[in-house]
Amino acid sequence: MNSDAAAHAVREMFTSIAPRYDFLNHLLSMNVDKLWWRRAARTFAQILSRPNTRVLDLCCGTGDMTSVLFGYASPTAQVYGADFSHVMLQRASEKFAATRLRWIEADALKLPFADVEFDLVTAAFGFRNLVNYDAGLREIVRLLKSGGECGILDFGEPVGMIGKLYRIYFKRVLPVIGTAISGVRGPYAYLPASVERFPAPDEMLDRMRRAGFREVNWTPYTFGIAGLYRGRK
Ligand SMILES: C[S@@+](CC[C@H](N)C(=O)[O-])C[C@H]1O[C@@H](n2cnc3c(N)ncnc32)[C@H](O)[C@@H]1O
Repeated sequence: MNSDAAAHAVREMFTSIAPRYDFLNHLLSMNVDKLWWRRAARTFAQILSRPNTRVLDLCCGTGDMTSVLFGYASPTAQVYGADFSHVMLQRASEKFAATRLRWIEADALKLPFADVEFDLVTAAFGFRNLVNYDAGLREIVRLLKSGGECGILDFGEPVGMIGKLYRIYFKRVLPVIGTAISGVRGPYAYLPASVERFPAPDEMLDRMRRAGFREVNWTPYTFGIAGLYRGRK
């Protein structure tokens, strides 16, 4: 499959689960996703609270992480959520209609913004789906101002006994519940496969350095089930 076809398949997949996405997300993560969004957003509280700060949340889906970021943002901040699934964005704009959040329908690999426009670029549980991680990182570097920061929150693969138990849940239980409730077969089997494909922390940090980030680091969340990658341009 070429990269356009792969991106199309990912977009169709998310569009197909959009109506049940929020419900399933909270159920399957047992609401821990809310803690992870908040913890990641808090990390960037200082940048968010600056006057006129510009923030872009990539792969924003139905906008929950974007809205958590907005909660920490100064009154003059401009906060954008971008996603390439029209249906996901529609839900985001309905859910957060009363806010100043702005929604952009765009591919994270080809964003309709000029260079060096943003103080902070984030992605929560979306970066892993990109067809080309290095191109995704280069696009973030392009958008960031000098000194600007990037935060990529995504799943990891915990080790040890917790890892073993988690893998049973993630590979056996979660796809069955996800498929039953969403009524769509593919996406919840794709989820564990996409986590396996995602680079391990050391490799991801190397890729970030090569893309042009400095001060890169990874903070595991909840035994490494998820984690936050940070880097500064
Ligand atoms: C698992 S959801 C995460 C949504 C949200 N950030 C959250 O934390 O709930 C992944 C989202 O990434 C979007 N996505 C995947 N690849 C993308 C790409 N290349 N460009 C833009 N959005 C993309 C999907 O449409 C989907 O809405």
